[in-house]
Amino acid sequence: MNVTELFETPSLIEDTDLQISADGRLRHLLTLKGLSKAHICRILDEAEAFLSPPGHPAVRTRALEGRTIANLFFEPSTRTRASFDLAGKRLGADVLNLDVNTSSRKKGESILDTIYTLQAMQVDIFVVRDASAGVPAYIARNVQDHVSILNAGEAEVSHPTQGLLDLLTMRQHKSNFEDLTVAIVGDIAHSRVARSAAEGLTTMGVGELRLISPQALAPDPGDIPGAKILYKLDDGLRGADVVMALRIQRERIGSLDGIPGIDEYFANYGISHERMKLAAPDAIVMHPGPMNRGIEIESSLADSPQSVITNQVTNGVAIRMAILTAVTQTVESS
Ligand code: CP
Repeated sequence: MNVTELFETPSLIEDTDLQISADGRLRHLLTLKGLSKAHICRILDEAEAFLSPPGHPAVRTRALEGRTIANLFFEPSTRTRASFDLAGKRLGADVLNLDVNTSSRKKGESILDTIYTLQAMQVDIFVVRDASAGVPAYIARNVQDHVSILNAGEAEVSHPTQGLLDLLTMRQHKSNFEDLTVAIVGDIAHSRVARSAAEGLTTMGVGELRLISPQALAPDPGDIPGAKILYKLDDGLRGADVVMALRIQRERIGSLDGIPGIDEYFANYGISHERMKLAAPDAIVMHPGPMNRGIEIESSLADSPQSVITNQVTNGVAIRMAILTAVTQTVESS
């Protein structure tokens, strides 16, 4: 879908303004760009309360009883979709996972008509993943006042709940953001994970953010303000406290010209035990998933004590519980 065809009228309202209501409450979650440090800290703090120790029952509340959440994933997902599903159920909401492949969108129904149809069935929160930039904000501009839109992955632009779960994971393992050097490695050009991480880390006052990739997968100059763009992995890893590996987003790449083959990529950009010797001795290794073991990350490193990848997944449910709670809080109850 071409987003210029999709939009009826361009809007001058920034996504970041659209997502905060007049009373300062989080109404939608569309982007981490412009979201205040206070908002982010509050979400991270609330997420902590939804975590329980391994082996203990998951935290459950009835906070969203009577609410209905619809998960609309127009791109594949395991982690984000499953965690929104579990998060909604653990908060007592009704959760609808629409199978978009068998929905009436396949018969030509527009995304907005799909939304209006489900809104008429009293859906309160739409969780949306789409391959076109601008879709979550477009929907947010067109829903009823009480309805919230949560961006679950928007083209290469934004993945705000992933950014928040990454911040929570870093905060759990490292004492403060100001002293951190974070290295994100891989296909930065096509990565919504890198963009949301950069936006969140910048707001939290990260010490240094390095983005390392082959030239063909580097972001455009100025695309990710405040970050250092590097092309040599060793330069990027030296002294880093947090190392995040990214998947090559083949589904967003028109031509593979200039992009190294698998063996060359792993040799030059793969995160391995050997390469991690350049990072700080207590550095943590992250990956948003899905992983391609042996391409962007050495398989045994992903399963090693240095890896916090499963923590990221666990935190994903807690963050989504915190977000679902935040957007349903009324002024009176907040
Ligand atoms: N990290 C992430 O968004 O994973 P999924 O594509 O499985 O949701």
